[in-house]
This record gives sequence, structure tokens and C-alpha cells, in this order.
Amino acid sequence: MRLGIQELRLHHFRCYESLSLIMGTGLPPVVLTGGNGAGKTNILEAISFLVPGRGLRQARLSDIATKTPEEMQMLDAVSEDTSWAISAKVQTQDGLVQVGTGLVDKMERRQIRIDGENAKTQSELGNVLSAIWITPAQDRLFCGDPAARRRFLDRLVQAFDSGHATVCSDYSYALKQWNNLLHEGRHDPSWLNALEEQIAAGAVAIAAARRDIVARLQTFLKTKEVDGFPTAVISLSGMVEEWLNDLAAIDVEDKYREKLKSSRHLVADGGSIGGVHTSDFSVLHAQKAMDASLCSSGEQKALLYSIVLAQTKAQMQEKGQCPILLLDELAAHFDAKRRDALLERLNNLPAQVWMTGTDAEPFNTLAGKAEFFNVENATVRLAKVA
Ligand SMILES: Nc1ncnc2c1ncn2[C@@H]1O[C@H](COP(=O)(O)OP(=O)(O)O)[C@@H](O)[C@H]1O
Ligand SMILES: [Mg+2]
Repeated sequence: MRLGIQELRLHHFRCYESLSLIMGTGLPPVVLTGGNGAGKTNILEAISFLVPGRGLRQARLSDIATKTPEEMQMLDAVSEDTSWAISAKVQTQDGLVQVGTGLVDKMERRQIRIDGENAKTQSELGNVLSAIWITPAQDRLFCGDPAARRRFLDRLVQAFDSGHATVCSDYSYALKQWNNLLHEGRHDPSWLNALEEQIAAGAVAIAAARRDIVARLQTFLKTKEVDGFPTAVISLSGMVEEWLNDLAAIDVEDKYREKLKSSRHLVADGGSIGGVHTSDFSVLHAQKAMDASLCSSGEQKALLYSIVLAQTKAQMQEKGQCPILLLDELAAHFDAKRRDALLERLNNLPAQVWMTGTDAEPFNTLAGKAEFFNVENATVRLAKVA
């Protein structure tokens, strides 16, 4: 039995006033096809809220509730009713678990219910389900903003360790407070000391977790998962991450705390300090000995998929649990041979895979193996496969 979502219900979620989907026995791969704006990505986004974090669009929670066509025309319109909800019946290793999440007030905090009980923290979702996504926004992941790469890497860490999201958000919050205090000239030593302690501890936890994931992935990246896909070699760069090469965690924490303290004036004068919030990672196309940023769109996408597949293997081996995959516009940029080899590999994963595309034709090799749905105008119908 594959792990994954058996039933999905959406209420007041983006273009779906209400939607109910029941997946096939054995949780075969799911292919959602339909024209632009039909509502495919919205379904993947809904699923991405069943794990900790801000979902695959990093959206403001109050923007998600279904808006009227008039409200959609105004960029910053906030509807009267910003509440929305998702509920799912999830097949886990321990049987079926009912998960619900949504926004009930304007507090920008989503509520979570697991088997009828309110969860205290989002990280509890991670005990039920783990998910990784690849979206068209990541097509230029290796060329664009390092923040997107850090987010991607941190998501991989989080798929292993659901507490990582909290560590990252606490770190960002403490760093922001520290920066604000200094910019406003409020040099309250005990407050600054306390924040520096918190920032340094967070930095070491984040850096260590990232080093860990890169080392783990590297082991699994050595075996080629898909015919014709390049081998990816990942390397992490970042001050705190590099200090951990030579120093014990506790010493790195002291060193970074000292650095923060000695940078107070620099930051007060408008300067900035490096840390895990400025780290980056790069990927090498091993066969061509070429940095991913110089590779073609298709090659970059194959490198990204190789990393995600390595992650599924690492997670299966070390946690006995494969994450579900949300693969938006999977077929774009791939040639037919590589695409079909990828689909074959995905079909063999022990967890559910959700894929979208504008046309069904690229998914033909999955006929009889996957479940196909047509999405049109926020209506989802099981498709008849020829
Ligand atoms: N809060 C919202 N309320 C109503 N419609 C929305 C909301 N947010 C996005 N939409 C609409 O949902 C539609 C489907 O989006 P999406 O799922 O991204 O389409 P696609 O099938 O191309 O992936 C879009 O036309 C978008 O305008
Ligand atoms: Mg889309």
C-alpha cells in the first residue's frame, strides 16, 4: 500500500468553493490535466498545506480564501470572509489519519486538527505526512535568487525533521528583532545579548542540519535514478556551515555570537552580517563538469528531479517513509525519452505522486497505471483514458 492522500476536501480554497476528491485504491499516481487557470496548481497548493510551512506558493494565508471575480480584480482586496479549510484522509504507515487545516480568523495562523484533536504546533503535521514539491517557479532555481535555493534546501531538511521549520522561523524572527533594535539605536545590552544567544544557537542548528542533508543526499546521488539524467554533485557554501568543518558546534556558536556582538555598530550604521540567512548551495552536472546555472532548462530540471529522487531514497532508508511528491507542470522542458523514463521511475515510488500538465498526451505511458483527472473551470472529473 502506497502512502498518500485517500480523500481530499477543499472548502473556500482559491477557485474551489468546495471540492471533494476520492483517490483510487492503492493510491496510484495522480495526473491532473487542464488548460491554464483551470485550477491544477491550486490542488497541489492545498496538499502542500498538509505539511508544516507556508505551502508551495508561500502565500499570505488571508489571500487564499475564494474571492469574487470583483475582488480578484483588485490586487490588495481582502474579502470579508478570509476563512478556508482543507481536510484529508491520509494513508500512513500506522493506518488512516484524518488531518484538517485552515484559517479561521484573520490572525495569519492556520489551525491544525489531527484525528479530531487540535495540534499545538504545525510540526505535528510532519508526523503524519511528508511532502516535497517541484514547481515551474523553480525552473530557474540554480540561476536566480539564493533565497529560493535556501528555501528548497530547508524544505528537504524539513521533510526529515519537521521541527526544522520552527527553528528557521524563530531564527529569522530573532535576527529581525536584533536588526530593528540596532537600526533604531536601542542598544539595550541585555536584550541584544539574549537575541544574539538565540540567533547563534539557531544558526548552528540550521547550518548543521543543512550539512547533514547535503551529505546524505550526496550518498544517494551517486546511483543514477533515471536513464539519461545527469549526476548531480551538491556543495554548500556559507560561513557558519564552513566553520563547522573545523570546530565543534558549541565553539561555532560562541564564535558566531561574538561576531554578532562585534558587528553591532556595523549593523547600526546600515551594514549587514552574513550567516545562515546568506548561505547558498551549488549543483554540478557531473558528466559535463558544468555548474547547473550554465546548463539548459531541461538539464537543470533533471538535476532538480535527481535531487528530489535522492531525497525520497534517503528518507525511505533512514525513516522508512517516502514523501509524497507534488510535481507541477512535470513534462515542461523534458524530451520525450527522459520524460518517459522519469514517469516510469515515479510510478515505482512507494508514495503517492501528484502531477499536473496542460495536456494528457505526455503522460500516455502511465495509462492504466495512474489515475487521470480533467480540471476545467474549478471542476475536477475523472478522465476516461483511451
Ligand atoms: N483566492 C482566490 N479566489 C478565487 N480564485 C482564485 C484565488 N486565487 C487564485 N484564483 C484563481 O484560480 C485559478 C486557477 O489557478 P491555478 O490552479 O494556478 O491554475 P492552473 O490550472 O493553471 O494551475 C486562476 O484563474 C486564479 O485566478
Ligand atoms: Mg498551474
